[in-house]
Amino acid sequence: MKTIVTGSSSGIGKAVALKFLNEGYDVVGIDILPATISHPRYTHFVADVVADELPDIEHADILVNNAGVQNSGRDIDVNLKGAIRTTERYGIRPDVKSIVFVASASASTGAEFPEYAASKGGVVSYMKNVALRIAPYGATCNSISPGGVTTALNKRVMDDPELWAQIMDETPLRKWASAEEIAEWVYFVSVVNKSMTAQDILIDNGEAARAKFVW
Ligand SMILES: NC(=O)c1ccc[n+]([C@@H]2O[C@H](COP(=O)([O-])OP(=O)(O)OC[C@H]3O[C@@H](n4cnc5c(N)ncnc54)[C@H](O)[C@@H]3O)[C@@H](O)[C@H]2O)c1
Repeated sequence: MKTIVTGSSSGIGKAVALKFLNEGYDVVGIDILPATISHPRYTHFVADVVADELPDIEHADILVNNAGVQNSGRDIDVNLKGAIRTTERYGIRPDVKSIVFVASASASTGAEFPEYAASKGGVVSYMKNVALRIAPYGATCNSISPGGVTTALNKRVMDDPELWAQIMDETPLRKWASAEEIAEWVYFVSVVNKSMTAQDILIDNGEAARAKFVW
C-alpha cells in the first residue's frame, strides 16, 4: 500500500507521512524542502507543486494534499491550484482508494487572511468535485479543516503570550490540536472510513461553535 503526501517536510504533512510509515505503508513525499524523514519505505521528491515538473509516481492508494502556505502572495496558487494539479496527476486513477485534502476552518468561517480563506474554500468545493469523479472507482474523497494546529506556520502567535491568551479565550476547549492528532484524522478518514465521501470535517476545538446566547 502506498500513500503520497505533499508538504511532507514539516508540520502536519510530516506527521501524516510518519503515521502511514508506522502503519506499514510505503510513503512518497513531495515538498519544496529536502527530506526530513529517513526511513527505508520513504521516498522524497523535492518539487514545488505549482511550478515544477511533478515526478512520475506509478501507483498510489492514497493521496494526501497537504502542502500549503499562509499569507504568502501565493496562497491560491499553492493551496488551491497546487492541490488541483497533484490530484489530477496522482488521484484521478482507477487504482486510487482515497484522497484527503487538508483544508482549514477558514474555508467555512471566512476568518483569517483573505487569499488564504479563499484558497481553502476553493479546496473544499474542488474536493466535492473529485469525490463524484472517483466514486465510480469505489474511492472516497474528503477534506479535514483544522482550526489552530501547533506548527511552525503559527510561530508568531504561539510565541507571543498576549496573542496566545487572546486565542485561548476564543477557543472553548482552550487548546490547539497537535500535528500528530491531525495525522490520526487523516488516517481515519482515508483508511478506516469506507462510507463517508464528499464531506469536510471541522476540527477546531469548538472555535466556530462559539456563539453568544442573548436572552
Ligand atoms: N497549522 C495550522 O494551524 C493549520 C490550520 C489549518 C490548516 N492548515 C493547513 O495544513 C497544511 C500544512 O500546514 P502546516 O501547519 O503543517 O505548515 P508547515 O509550514 O509546517 O508545512 C507546510 C509544508 O508544505 C511545504 N510547501 C509549501 N509550499 C509548497 C509548494 N509550493 N510545493 C511543495 N511543498 C510546499 C512546506 O515546505 C512545508 O514543508 C497547510 O495546507 C495549511 O494551510 C494548517
